[in-house]
Amino acid sequence: MSSIVIAGGNKLEGEVKISGAKNSVLPILAATILNGGKNIIHDCPELKDVSASLQILEFLGCRIQRQGKTIIVDSSSVNEFHVPENLMREMRSSVIFLGSIVSRCRKAVLSYPGGCEIGPRPIDLHLKALKKLGIKARESHGYIFCDAENIIGNDICLNFPSVGATENIMLMAVMAKGETIIRNAAKEPEVVDLQDYLNGMGAKITGAGTSVIRVEGVTELHDVEHTVIPDRIEASTYLASAAITGGTVKVTNVNPEHLQAVLAVLQECGCKIYIEKDSITLSRTSSLQPVDVIRTLPYPGFPTDMQAPMMSVLTLAKGTSIVSETIFENRFKHVEELIRMGADIMVDGRVAVIRGVDKLTGANVNAMDLRGGAALVIAGLAAEGVTTVNGVHHIDRGYEKIEDKFINLGADIKRVD
Ligand code: UD1
Repeated sequence: MSSIVIAGGNKLEGEVKISGAKNSVLPILAATILNGGKNIIHDCPELKDVSASLQILEFLGCRIQRQGKTIIVDSSSVNEFHVPENLMREMRSSVIFLGSIVSRCRKAVLSYPGGCEIGPRPIDLHLKALKKLGIKARESHGYIFCDAENIIGNDICLNFPSVGATENIMLMAVMAKGETIIRNAAKEPEVVDLQDYLNGMGAKITGAGTSVIRVEGVTELHDVEHTVIPDRIEASTYLASAAITGGTVKVTNVNPEHLQAVLAVLQECGCKIYIEKDSITLSRTSSLQPVDVIRTLPYPGFPTDMQAPMMSVLTLAKGTSIVSETIFENRFKHVEELIRMGADIMVDGRVAVIRGVDKLTGANVNAMDLRGGAALVIAGLAAEGVTTVNGVHHIDRGYEKIEDKFINLGADIKRVD
């Protein structure tokens, strides 16, 4: 088991190139099954979740080639519609394979995704959507069995703009008979990227990025080539590391539009932000200021994925901040670890009250989930002394070469096995 060891205190300075978005590439990889042809996907990050998706695709019969950051998936020989439990469990968002397998094979058998590090993972919205599209679904012995002689377009109104459910419905509806309308759809940039990918292979989808998405079913799809959008959460994490260390960091290969909610909070903290077409520079020269309330919300609100890293920054603010987590119920596991490092945080249900302290001190801490792990690394960069972050496999699910990128920014950080 690897750990990350950080000698804190260096102000981060320099430039870091952001990788393709994890939350985009996973649904896109699932979508490769649909066209029964060639999928060329550029700027795929090297992450554990990406490898887990490729394993599922190979199991289903796809042929895969990897050339640097480009992945080529040939799905012409898909011959399986059943994903075994061990492969499903590798990745939290594996339920995204449901829509594409049922769409291509007209049958699907997937193990029910259990809970995970950040709380229960209900899929009721996905299952309701299946039924609305005429797909028979039954759950038994921890598996979901789907049968779809016909997939028929329908009008589906989600009671919450779930990202996963929106994407799964798009995948199910691409080759349905007639039109599917998704109301109260998720507006995340990754949903727009999936729309662009699917349209690239001949789908007829409009409206992604708004709350109403329309999918006109088509009968044929073709080969596709696509570049994944930059990872807005990775970019935000590096900006947060500049904020907490009082440094200056430029993130390149970003879409600044996607980071607006995070940038607003970092500005409130006293950081100076300079935006160009596809880069953002953050510098902090004055003390960190607290923020009134950060409430995690569906896009374009403050992303739940940045809640933990931002909390690390706020531990060193000159005053009290409040963070309210409205998306996931068990997403404060980093708090106890930050307290071990000297932070003053009180949690009541889904609300955390962070009283800024003068300094954090290095400690031996455990990453319990992906973003919580990133939060501990960020805290370690600013802490006095040495911080050891255990449980790095969580961080590797979502950050490509995290220690190399931080070393390039001047951090004293290494991975030990
Ligand atoms: C979520 C985030 C997304 C982020 C991703 C990775 C939101 C809205 N979604 O997407 O931005 O990129 O994690 O960390 O912030 N829910 C149900 N029933 C369902 C599906 C979901 O009740 O069938 C609930 C979940 O329990 C949760 C909320 O909806 O409280 C958000 O879920 P959803 O958007 O589906 O999660 P992800 O797709 O994982």
